[in-house]
Amino acid sequence: MKYRSLGSTGIKISSIGLGCMGMSHAYTGQDDRESLATLHKAIDLGINFWDTADFYGNGANELLLGNVLKENRDKIVLASKFGLKYEKSNLLASKIDGSPQWLNEALHESLKRLQTEYIDLYYLHRVDPQVPIEETIGAMADFVKQGKIRYIGLSEASAQTILKANKIHTISALQSEYSLLSRNIEGEILDVVNQLGMSLIPYSPLGRGMFTEDFSGKIEEGDARLLLPRFQGKNLENNKNLMRELNDFAKKRNVHVAQIAIAWLLSKGDNIIPIPGTKKRKYLEINAKSVEIELTTNEIIEVENIISKYPDTGERYPQSALDLTNK
Ligand SMILES: NC(=O)c1ccc[n+]([C@@H]2O[C@H](COP(=O)([O-])OP(=O)(O)OC[C@H]3O[C@@H](n4cnc5c(N)ncnc54)[C@H](OP(=O)(O)O)[C@@H]3O)[C@@H](O)[C@H]2O)c1
Repeated sequence: MKYRSLGSTGIKISSIGLGCMGMSHAYTGQDDRESLATLHKAIDLGINFWDTADFYGNGANELLLGNVLKENRDKIVLASKFGLKYEKSNLLASKIDGSPQWLNEALHESLKRLQTEYIDLYYLHRVDPQVPIEETIGAMADFVKQGKIRYIGLSEASAQTILKANKIHTISALQSEYSLLSRNIEGEILDVVNQLGMSLIPYSPLGRGMFTEDFSGKIEEGDARLLLPRFQGKNLENNKNLMRELNDFAKKRNVHVAQIAIAWLLSKGDNIIPIPGTKKRKYLEINAKSVEIELTTNEIIEVENIISKYPDTGERYPQSALDLTNK
């Protein structure tokens, strides 16, 4: 494995992390035994940066990770999040709460589920428009002083919010969607991240499973991707054609298309640490090898040209969920 720095903390984290959400949330096909084996495999491969949230499976994902963490705490740089309140009947309608009261409750519940005394990187999952960011970050900073959080991060925050938050306490990382299909943070947001010496943690770097050999567009009932425009109608047709052409490119280069998607992100800056999600050892091993792949300038141009031939990709979220981002 190769390693990169987490913001200006001096902590070394693997150049790709492990997104654990799908083990307990949003995607069908969950299998705790294979997920636990995947977590152990991550330790063997040196993937020490794990990503979860209280929201994932309404605590189930943190509970799952806690089983492995308790024996391996010093080997893992653990990231979790608070600020989204789980709404089982409609995940996309879940409520944001960035209040100090909810932080206090959510953090202590997460620590219990994770069977740990501290969380290395604790994110505000979505910025709460009802609570000044200074108030939320001030309350998070108090927990840094108490040693319950080591570093603070934001997820899906705007450039303005990051700047305001960083005046109260150093913000070590921004976690936002970033991939060959979702490049909207390029420009203002990425500039601020770089200027402040933060890490950027791209989530859904594989387009939620699109940048893969086996992407057929067939998603099982009950899978949250069915709610996303990219997995519907003409957008889905566009994206299947796109992935077919990108797969041909990957085959010519003798690599997996998932590795191309990850290597493209890694090429965009040394402070970029993608967190591809998987619950399977076989995918984890493929993804881990991405750190060895260096795309040439011509290859980057070729990949980006393939993407631009299929512009009808669709929005990453429906409007109600987009409205919760980049506040
Ligand atoms: N901050 C936020 O708001 C936010 C939002 C979404 C996600 N996240 C975080 O980001 C992480 C990653 O995002 P994501 O899971 O949504 O999407 P992703 O990483 O883009 O894609 C995950 C999907 O790709 C499949 N996959 C992974 N590697 C593969 C490979 N080599 N070949 C074939 N298929 C492969 C997985 O299958 P299997 O499941 O079968 O392994 C899963 O269906 C999450 O786990 C979560 O921690 C954060």
